[in-house]
Amino acid sequence: MFISFEGIDGSGKSTQSRLLAGKLEADGHTVVLTREPGGSPGAEDIRRLLVEGEPDRWSAETEILLFTAARRDHLERRIAPVLKGGKIVVCDRFADSTRVYQGATRGENRAMVDSLHAQMIGTEPDLTLIIDMDPDTALERGLARDSGEDRFEEFGADFQHKLRGGFLALAEEYPDRCVVIDGGRSADEVGADVLKVVLDRLA
Ligand code: ADP
Ligand code: TYD
Repeated sequence: MFISFEGIDGSGKSTQSRLLAGKLEADGHTVVLTREPGGSPGAEDIRRLLVEGEPDRWSAETEILLFTAARRDHLERRIAPVLKGGKIVVCDRFADSTRVYQGATRGENRAMVDSLHAQMIGTEPDLTLIIDMDPDTALERGLARDSGEDRFEEFGADFQHKLRGGFLALAEEYPDRCVVIDGGRSADEVGADVLKVVLDRLA
């Protein structure tokens, strides 16, 4: 099973990915926890180009190519072999982030994103958990981390509001695969909802 987490910056995806992987492992499953951009050595190199530096460092079109290059390497070298072995992959962001960030928020590039995805990736998660919450609170949480990886947070609050709408629209576009989770609660409360959805699907 291939599970992805999606949502705006600072919404709690990394926290929930970690919690879920831990609970599934305690339940006896073999889980590989990974993330995008990154997840393989080559994709982690590309990640640094994308998340550091000035917001105008790359155009939306160049970002589509870089995120897709990173995803292709991650898929070939990490995700595909794990799924072939019948194990669970939990991935913090996947192709939906490109659909929303580059396809619908940085510009109107969805057709380009879809065409490149079809040619180079062609894989979708079985289940996508979209962590939804107030963008201003999420932005505060994200910037408080002071991670040096704030290139997308630097686009500002309006950008995060637009992203939220983009993820909610995506959930309507793919209702079988996507489940929206209210992220504006404690990490344990959010995690309990997430686990319930995942255990239902696994059953
Ligand atoms: P994302 O991966 O979506 O950017 P993180 O999981 O890294 O989000 O969380 C962003 C920040 O908010 C981190 O400092 C994390 O500890 C904190 N955080 C995560 N979940 C919650 C929550 N439910 N309530 C309050 N703070 C949270
Ligand atoms: P991530 O480390 O998940 O950021 P955060 O913890 O703030 O949510 O991802 C880094 C940034 O890359 C994030 O701002 C979203 C952006 N991104 C895209 O724009 N397109 C993509 O396809 C992916 C995977 C991420």
